[in-house]
Amino acid sequence: MQDLLLDKTHDETRQGEAFAPAFNGITSNRKHFYIESYGCAMNFADSEVVASILQNEGFAATTEPALADLILINTCSIREKAEMTVRKRLTEFRSIKRSNPGLIVGVLGCMAERLKATFIEEEKLVDLVVGPDAYRSLPGLIEEANGGQKGVNVLLSREETYADIAPIRLNSNGVTAFVSIMRGCNNMCSFCVVPFTRGRERSRNAASIVAECTTLFNDGYREVTLLGQNVDSYHWIDEQNDQTVTFAKLMEMVALISPLLRVRFSTSHPKDITDDVLYTIAKYENICNYIHLPVQSGSSRVLQMMNRTYSREWYIAKVDRIRELLPGCGLSTDMITGFCTETEEEHQQSLSLMEYCQFDLAYMYFYSERPGTLAARRFADDVPLDVKKRRLAEMVALYRGHSLISMQKDLGKTFKVLVEGNSKKDENELHGRTDHNKVVVFPKQHYKKGDYVMVNITRCTAGTLLGVPVN
Ligand code: SAM
Ligand code: SF4
Ligand code: F3S
Repeated sequence: MQDLLLDKTHDETRQGEAFAPAFNGITSNRKHFYIESYGCAMNFADSEVVASILQNEGFAATTEPALADLILINTCSIREKAEMTVRKRLTEFRSIKRSNPGLIVGVLGCMAERLKATFIEEEKLVDLVVGPDAYRSLPGLIEEANGGQKGVNVLLSREETYADIAPIRLNSNGVTAFVSIMRGCNNMCSFCVVPFTRGRERSRNAASIVAECTTLFNDGYREVTLLGQNVDSYHWIDEQNDQTVTFAKLMEMVALISPLLRVRFSTSHPKDITDDVLYTIAKYENICNYIHLPVQSGSSRVLQMMNRTYSREWYIAKVDRIRELLPGCGLSTDMITGFCTETEEEHQQSLSLMEYCQFDLAYMYFYSERPGTLAARRFADDVPLDVKKRRLAEMVALYRGHSLISMQKDLGKTFKVLVEGNSKKDENELHGRTDHNKVVVFPKQHYKKGDYVMVNITRCTAGTLLGVPVN
């Protein structure tokens, strides 16, 4: 069994999607770029910044790699498997390069940052290697590559947030959008490669975030997801108004754009989510009652080795507080099985924590050692692979039961659903989401994308609520 990814909406489930804005085909004699993205939502949001930079340079997007002059692959390093997927994909681009020797192939994102120039040595077809903070240098690097000069820019920055670049929405449903509010991470969880690939944490100018969300709303979007590795540590000093904008304040500013604009956010670190954030969620109907609160392990000893800076008891108290202030709030988590030295008893503690918390969604992975991380340097990766996978399978089985209970609890209830589009299975049906992030499918009738519809839930599957609209 591979890492287990159980929901198509979560950041890490998206593997290699090709993106192009709907209006761009091969209709002009402009140069075309093809971009494929892997990893978390932040990477997908970055691809939209890259698309904007390239469009300003006169490029148009295409969804056909064979028709492109420039192929970009925006990569993820979070687990070994993510990197292997990218390596395999690159071999598939080889034949395109053979038939189009002028084609430029660029590697962007976290793998570019981690492997730097060695990428160009290891993968002969790669012309460009560009890290997450260096996308502004793409036009210059592309020009040099056209002249036969391979290029690498993996400089990390303490300031770059791309705040002034209006992202081009790629492959958008026109209703929901990601908005990056910060970059990097200062947390240094011992298993995690992100601080090395994304650099120091920095927050984006609050006014530029509100402006981007306002434009999205005016363009017909009805939901924004505010993105960061640790959104609760968002922090911006607004000198003009002599105020500090915290995450709670930022959410409020975005929620006030319109009651018709839903606000989501991801990811919250349990050590940083404050009562202030919870009160703000409670205060505004359009801030969704859904929190992704990764715990990683149910053992305080393992959490300490992971450098998560909270204990099992502290996490449980946080969950209790969320349920007290936000009854019915959707809750999801991330879990890792088989971290260095994890015992059978500690694995059981992870299961009992899940039993206690009854997560609506859980994203579960077995531990994958990442070169250069604190854990790789300090601890032996000593839980055998078959044990890691067996523990993961046990965890997934437990979670499936919780997830079904969570769906069944909603039977007979009525929810406000934001319509995102036609159901994939039946064009006479629509799909959308409740405020606590559950997918709902219901008959289309006269409703359309972007509408809010009250839906009474009549049936459910393991991952979807099925219902009928009510007046
Ligand atoms: N910033 C978020 C947080 O603090 O929880 C998570 C970011 S990370 C991109 C997403 C998830 O990947 C983590 O929550 C963790 O469960 C998983 N992950 C990270 N490094 C991993 C590793 N080396 N092996 C397995 N899973 C890993
Ligand atoms: Fe990685 Fe921890 Fe930062 Fe999340 S908070 S990105 S798990 S270092
Ligand atoms: Fe995201 Fe993967 Fe990088 S999860 S931050 S793209 S390592």
